[in-house]
Amino acid sequence: MSHRYGDAKEAFVDEIKIDEYIELEGSKRAYRQLEHSLQKSTKMVLIYGRPGTGKTLLLNRLYDAYKEKLDLYFLDTPSGTRREFYKKLFKIFTGKEMPPKTKVDFETFVEFGRRIKGQRKIVILVDEAQMYPKEMLEEIRILSDTGSVKFVITLHKTEDEDLVAKKHFQSRIWETVELRNASPIETKAYIHKRLLHHGLNELAHQLNDRHIKAIHRWTGGNFRECNKLLYTLFEICEYYDAHDPQKIDYNRIPMKLLEMSAIKTGFIHV
Ligand SMILES: Nc1ncnc2c1ncn2[C@@H]1O[C@H](COP(=O)(O)OP(=O)(O)OP(=O)(O)O)[C@@H](O)[C@H]1O
Ligand SMILES: [Mg+2]
Repeated sequence: MSHRYGDAKEAFVDEIKIDEYIELEGSKRAYRQLEHSLQKSTKMVLIYGRPGTGKTLLLNRLYDAYKEKLDLYFLDTPSGTRREFYKKLFKIFTGKEMPPKTKVDFETFVEFGRRIKGQRKIVILVDEAQMYPKEMLEEIRILSDTGSVKFVITLHKTEDEDLVAKKHFQSRIWETVELRNASPIETKAYIHKRLLHHGLNELAHQLNDRHIKAIHRWTGGNFRECNKLLYTLFEICEYYDAHDPQKIDYNRIPMKLLEMSAIKTGFIHV
């Protein structure tokens, strides 16, 4: 048992792994809504929520499930320049790399979009849309107006960007899917299932309702914050296990250790 703290720590590394997706009330609802919207017309979809609420994971999951069934593409990293964005569009539209000296303007893509209407139904997933300049977002809107390209984009929700969301996205052409932080019950399911995925049933048992309540209070049920806190908790356990094993009780996780990790990660201050 004692050596499994390292595994537990690894279980909370903040990474996108679709095979570690956990079905929770909120994520299930959002995913269903997305699936439903893929069947519909070309209305654009905006997935929004605070950082760490699972937008990227959801997009990856959608891509993985539908990449063989639909004319589906995933722009997972934002394009820094217009040309880079056009290069990606070129590849999507023609299936070929854009030759180095090609001169393309946006109108070419719009015409192309109009021409393939009724023949192709392209779906493009765009992660981190808050990184795109406004003009590119406007081009995305124009392309989707051609009726042959549907965009599904994710957007960070922060205090400032809420304004952006309001102005640019609150219109009839957008369907919105909101991801929220987890409730206490979801937080519990999330933490336990993450541990169970790694075969750490015993450690999952040791995190009881008191632990979960504190974790939820400190992290607000944000998945990324939970990862940070639990990673640190098991890192501390791992340390004691290696350097001061008399101090550790392998049958329980003292609240004190959880508090220590909350202090270390800045959730509480002393
Ligand atoms: N339903 C879920 N099942 C398993 N892990 C999840 C789930 N939702 C979120 N996570 C995990 O939480 C972390 C944050 O998720 P993700 O990176 O998708 O958030 P995000 O909303 O895209 O954040 P940002 O706005 O900063 O890009 C990741 O490690 C992810 O794997
Ligand atoms: Mg993301």
